[in-house]
Amino acid sequence: MNFMNVDYSTKIPNNVNLSEDRQVLKALEGWHPGYMDWWSDMGPEGFQQSLVYLRTAYSVDPRGWAKFDYVKMPEYRWGILLAPQEENRVIPFGENFGKPAWQEVPGEHRATLRRLIVIQGDTEPASVEQQRHLGKTAPSLYDLRNLFQVNVEEGRHLWAMVYLLQKYFGRDGREEADELLRRRSGDADSPRMLGAFNEATPDWLSFFMFTYFTDRDGKMQLHSLAQSGFDPLSRTCRFMLTEEAHHMFVGETGISRVVQRTCEAMKAAGISDPTDIAKVRALGVIDLPTIQKKLHLHYSLSLDLFGSEVSTNAANAFNAGIKGRYKETQIDDDHRLQNSTYPVLKLVNGEVKRVDEPALTALNMRLRDDYTQDCAKGMLRWNKIIQLAGYHFKLTLPNVAFHRQIGEFRDINATPEGVLIDDATWNKRKGEWLPSSADGDFIASLMTPVTEAGTYASWISPPKVGIDNKPGDFEYVKIET
Ligand SMILES: [Fe+2]
Ligand SMILES: [Fe+2]
Repeated sequence: MNFMNVDYSTKIPNNVNLSEDRQVLKALEGWHPGYMDWWSDMGPEGFQQSLVYLRTAYSVDPRGWAKFDYVKMPEYRWGILLAPQEENRVIPFGENFGKPAWQEVPGEHRATLRRLIVIQGDTEPASVEQQRHLGKTAPSLYDLRNLFQVNVEEGRHLWAMVYLLQKYFGRDGREEADELLRRRSGDADSPRMLGAFNEATPDWLSFFMFTYFTDRDGKMQLHSLAQSGFDPLSRTCRFMLTEEAHHMFVGETGISRVVQRTCEAMKAAGISDPTDIAKVRALGVIDLPTIQKKLHLHYSLSLDLFGSEVSTNAANAFNAGIKGRYKETQIDDDHRLQNSTYPVLKLVNGEVKRVDEPALTALNMRLRDDYTQDCAKGMLRWNKIIQLAGYHFKLTLPNVAFHRQIGEFRDINATPEGVLIDDATWNKRKGEWLPSSADGDFIASLMTPVTEAGTYASWISPPKVGIDNKPGDFEYVKIET
């Protein structure tokens, strides 16, 4: 069969020849009703009967892989799509460097691989759960559509991981697939596996921050797994990255549009001091200092997703050829790292300092550094908007020691500049750096839905271009209640 095109003849669209893989097809069809139950319980609240202008993957050809059309979300074709197999692909790193990539799971790495796939899989439905209430306060039909696009694709990413579990991990893979539908974001008894995926996404600014910062952690993890010597995992992740790009676009442009609107409103009202919060808020827009606080929160929560800076698990996964580095094949070194070092940020005599550690155990730190560099691009874009509007205000990433729950800095308090402070000072000042409940209340007060095509809430600018080049007044969602 042609791997570029997707077989839509089975219930589950796929390019993995499911119709001839009866056992896996049966397992997936058995899992499907549970997934649909999960979608109706924990997927977007409302709008299930509305027609949404969504893209659906119909091919994995990079030159054209999606088509856009009106779909009711429960009828979305969640499929299993793997990037085409590269001929003679070899393991690009670790002790097995240069050996042929595995088409089956090697027995000795089974547990590690399963754990990584389950952790990745768990984040996908988690974010849908976190965002399920946002539909009713969407600032426009354009944004509503983008939310749902992200949601259905996270659903597809869950399918992607479940396919790997069911095809390659037998009975315990099927059990893990069921568990992925059982855990719930924020649930006291059965939470999702990672911290940031149990936090609330209370408003649309949080949604944009989440898709900018937390989906970007996903991008880094997927890139590392796309290097994997386990070829089906590599191919799965490569195609997921194609979709993931849109999620981060939603975040980046979402924040841009909020910043843009705030600057325009301040200018029109003759406000010269962007930190005059009361005056700015009176205009019905979100002040820049509050945007900065949200940014502090979401960036620090996302840094925690990289785990401990120094980690033998990370070293083992690399040695084994399971999880590589960001853009591994483009790095100019021996790809084994037996004798190299990497500078790790640590706490030394009360100061944040870089200390050389064996590069193998410092892989989480390295991936986090790559992530931080990737995040910084947004600051440049957003600050440009502020600067062009004539304001002296800069959005910045906080120091990595700020507000951490995991790793080297979990037991200390630091300011966003990285100055260590005691508990009393932290408690007194944290409201200056992180969103307070009053900030949350203010943002919530702006979250009134706008459902007229081409119209936008007071606190956000229209996008520069439409989805699929649609005109400004395009009806992205035909709301049916
Ligand atoms: Fe995803
Ligand atoms: Fe995503």
